[in-house]
Amino acid sequence: MPDQIAQALSRRRALRAGAALALAAGSKGLRAGSDPFTIRFSHVVAEDTPKGLAARRFQALVQERSGGRITVTIYPEAQLYGDHDEVQALQLGAVEILAPSLSKFGRIGFPEFELFDLPYLFPDVASVRRITQGVLGQRMLARLERQRLVGLGFMDNGFKHMSANRPLLQVADFAGQRMRVQASRVIAAQMRALGAQPVTLAFSETRRALEVGVVDGTENPISNFWTQDMHEVQTDLSLTEHGYLGYAVVTSQRFWLALTASDRSLVRGAMGEALAFGNQIADTQNEKALIALRTFPGTRIHPLALAQKERLRAAVQSVHAGLSQRIGADWLDEARAALARVP
Ligand code: SIN
Repeated sequence: MPDQIAQALSRRRALRAGAALALAAGSKGLRAGSDPFTIRFSHVVAEDTPKGLAARRFQALVQERSGGRITVTIYPEAQLYGDHDEVQALQLGAVEILAPSLSKFGRIGFPEFELFDLPYLFPDVASVRRITQGVLGQRMLARLERQRLVGLGFMDNGFKHMSANRPLLQVADFAGQRMRVQASRVIAAQMRALGAQPVTLAFSETRRALEVGVVDGTENPISNFWTQDMHEVQTDLSLTEHGYLGYAVVTSQRFWLALTASDRSLVRGAMGEALAFGNQIADTQNEKALIALRTFPGTRIHPLALAQKERLRAAVQSVHAGLSQRIGADWLDEARAALARVP
């Protein structure tokens, strides 16, 4: 096993042992308003991404507003828990906050969240916000209660692009490509509609899988592509802008209900501001990553002509009808109505 992987694993084991001790110590029910405590915020991406920076902003706001009584410890890059086990860790009280991508809620019982994965559904981020920041978004967050979760808000990353060791500009280019996808049936169907073979892998496993050739390509916004050094193992990035990637921040009912009302309001307020900050910087983080990527000679960047995007759009249209039953026709109708409404 290469040294870096062994080190990462033993670091993870040590962090988890610490988390388990804190869990045992912390399971004592309702807190008093003056009790100091720590909020563990686990996520899977790098710090220098929209989500990573929003988490840092949340940390600073909570610590400042509580006068240091509440500390926030951030575990980025799946240091503590990753795609496979983070929700269970949250439910068990081993961490307090997660911000999984919306694509990862389907497999835990909320397939309606996969509507955000529908290819070419959203013309821009402002359209996504008509759902996430509107009544429909609030209803989606409220449903998380069924899994003993509390939804604290949504946040954007941006639009995804396709990478591989070849340009992916037309449907024929996807033939036989093994494409890493998140655990979303909609994204898997999208890859199949393009003639590729979807391979579901955790985010933290993706770069390595690309490096050793377990998969040929993947999709992500550029901030994730760049900060995971995927450009070192992919020769071509095609600017397809075919789908949206965003997040829902969640905590557990067991943590939330044990807080005093004033701490709940402090945490909710800080998170609201941190998410607004994340939304504000998401575009620029992706643009900065694209500029950085342009200086890297190993990856060719391919903008797509409108006609090329239209052909890709046509190829994935079947996914909308094919997955409507999984997502829920009512959810889809409401989402389309929100998109059609004049802002
Ligand atoms: C993330 O941005 O949280 C990860 C997205 C992915 O798994 O591709």
